[in-house]
Amino acid sequence: MHRIVEIEDRVLETPSTVTWRFPYSVPCAPGQFVMVWIPGDDEIPMSLSYTDEPSKGVTIKAMGSASRHAQSISTGSSIGIRGPYGNRFDLAPRRILAVGGGSGTAVLAPAAELAVRSGARVTCALGATTETELLFATRLAASGARVEVATDDGSAGTRGFVTVVADRLLREQPFDAVWTCGPEVMMRKVAESARSHGTVGYGSVERHMKCAIGMCDACALGPYHVCVDGPVFRTEILLSLEEFGRTKRDPSGRRVPL
Ligand SMILES: Cc1cc2nc3c(=O)[nH]c(=O)nc-3n(C[C@H](O)[C@H](O)[C@H](O)COP(=O)(O)OP(=O)(O)OC[C@H]3O[C@@H](n4cnc5c(N)ncnc54)[C@H](O)[C@@H]3O)c2cc1C
Ligand code: FES
Repeated sequence: MHRIVEIEDRVLETPSTVTWRFPYSVPCAPGQFVMVWIPGDDEIPMSLSYTDEPSKGVTIKAMGSASRHAQSISTGSSIGIRGPYGNRFDLAPRRILAVGGGSGTAVLAPAAELAVRSGARVTCALGATTETELLFATRLAASGARVEVATDDGSAGTRGFVTVVADRLLREQPFDAVWTCGPEVMMRKVAESARSHGTVGYGSVERHMKCAIGMCDACALGPYHVCVDGPVFRTEILLSLEEFGRTKRDPSGRRVPL
């Protein structure tokens, strides 16, 4: 499915992150992503931060040229959407710890909301550099999830890494599953914590993408294609991959350190 849609709402979530809502009446599930074409610029993969009918949403953090350009695109502008692609979070577990770092929280938010609505107990540990960069803390608390935050500078919640908060929560109470998305170094630590507490983990992984349908090899991660085998993987699988949390491939396919 590929459509040109109009941005019907634009929300500045943090000083560096914008959400676009757009009409897209194609069923989408939390964990899946779409390819977003920014006319005159690039096409980039984006997790869906809103998956409900009728309007979907993506939440874009300014990183490189396309995502920086995205911050200045206004309501009413046309963009291209193709997808959704990839797999989804398993919403069956009843006690879930969702650990998000920076824009990684975008993919966890709709999954957490849906899980709460289906009766699951969801705890979210959210990390950011500083309070104003915390993403979706209010949205998740309003959904009924318990929210704990950590900031690098201590401006909100625990000072330091969200991985420390996640590890404490795993020590304090039992969870059936840990979901995580964010910088891979963070995800690796969360995956190791989940393993040491005997809890099954799932991580949503980002790799450079071109086709998004398993044809071009751009998104190779070990023996997997992130676009079709992921982006959500069991963290036991991720931990078994030498490159997870250490290297990725650049647009030319060259392996570069993360
Ligand atoms: C399945 C999937 C889902 C994604 N979901 C989201 C999402 O919900 N929100 C979102 O903001 N982004 C998401 N991304 C990342 C997004 O696709 C782009 O990689 C990102 O927006 C940067 O693109 P760019 O063209 O602006 O930067 P590029 O020109 O590709 O990169 C510019 C610089 O930024 C660095 N960089 C690029 N991406 C990242 C990153 N994620 N973390 C750290 N450094 C980076 C590059 O190494 C480079 O140095 C997702 C990626 C995938 C594969
Ligand atoms: S993006 Fe082409 S194989 Fe995954």
